Parts: sequence; structure tokens; C-alpha cells
Amino acid sequence: MHPRLTVVSHPLVQHKLTLMRRRETPTAEFRRLCREVAHLMAYEVTRDLPLASIPVETPLEPMMAPSLAGKKLCVVSILRAGDGLAEGILDLIPSARVGHIGLYRDPVTKRPVEYYLKLPEDIAERPVIVVDPMLATGNSAAAAVARLRAAGARDVRFVCLLAVAEGLRVMAAAHPDVPVFTAAVDRELDEHAYIRPGLGDAGDRLFGTK
Ligand code: URA
Repeated sequence: MHPRLTVVSHPLVQHKLTLMRRRETPTAEFRRLCREVAHLMAYEVTRDLPLASIPVETPLEPMMAPSLAGKKLCVVSILRAGDGLAEGILDLIPSARVGHIGLYRDPVTKRPVEYYLKLPEDIAERPVIVVDPMLATGNSAAAAVARLRAAGARDVRFVCLLAVAEGLRVMAAAHPDVPVFTAAVDRELDEHAYIRPGLGDAGDRLFGTK
């Protein structure tokens, strides 16, 4: 489905995802759970970040201790549901820079059209984590990654909560080298491009708009 797919099967992630799927989970709890799952996903997606030794003084003696090397990360949220995951990742990596990309689907061509873009100027030098809870058709994710690459980003990773085979195939065709992290791969996309069984509309559930 995607050559660099990681399904984060940690029991805490799976348990919290199940709570998020439940129809009766209220908005505030859904948002809190999304944040918590994002903490755990951030742990996985940053596993290979390079470290360098820096000198520190403990209360007892000086030592060389590991510290994240290189430029600070950038988290890019695909509006609007991406913000739910971005918040959680930023809890764990508070010094990360944040970019936003807004895309809508052209009703005629069905292709994603960019309506908003704000990225750090030096994105080319930063590891970038792109977030969107639902990898459904994959068109928005693929377009967002293409846009980031056009802006110079070289180290790009994608994080979602749920994916389906179709979206993973679209990402694999467009960006086979971009690691994709998801908490689950669901059964299918329905005729409205909703993931089944899924969790509904992630944006509406995060922001209480329905
Ligand atoms: N976006 C959502 O919010 N939910 C889906 O199931 C698919 C896309």
C-alpha cells in the first residue's frame, strides 16, 4: 500500500482511537483524545531524529549529554482538522515551527486547490511533519507534500489517525519516499469519500461544528 507505512499499534494509541471512534464521544473529549494520540504518534515519528552531544553541568559534575541536533522541526497542519494533531505534537515539541496549508476540492476537476499557505521561510532546512487526521482519497495529502517540496522541504513525514488503501496508494504513487504514520488502516472509502468504519468528520468532531 505504501512502502514506508508505519501502523502505530501501541495499545494506548489503539485504546484512545477506539474511544474517538465512538459516536457518543463528546467534542471536548474527542479533542483531548486527539491531542493524547498525537503525543504518542509524535514519539514514533521523531524516533530517528539525529542527536548530538552537548556539554551540561549536572549538580555533581560536567558531562556530555544527547540533545536534538540541527534545525528545529516544522509541523505543517492541513486545515482544518490537522490542527487537532498539530496541537498535540507541539505539546511534545514546543519549539517546533508551524506551517498551515488550506486546500479545497474543485467541484469540476475534483482536484485539490490551494487557498491558504503560510510556511517558515527556512522550511528547506527543517524536518517537516505534515498532519491530517484522515488519509482518505490521499489527494490533499499528496498535494500538500508536493507544495512543501516545491517550497524546498526535503525531509517530510506524514502523520494521520486513520488511512485507507486508496489514500495510501495515492501517497505511494506521488511520494513513495515520504514515511506515513497512522494509527489504523480502515476497510474502505464510501461514495462520499468518508473512511469506513472511520470516526466521522474529523473537523466537525474536533470543533463541534455539527
Ligand atoms: N475526512 C474526514 O473528516 N473523515 C473521513 O472519513 C474522510 C475524510
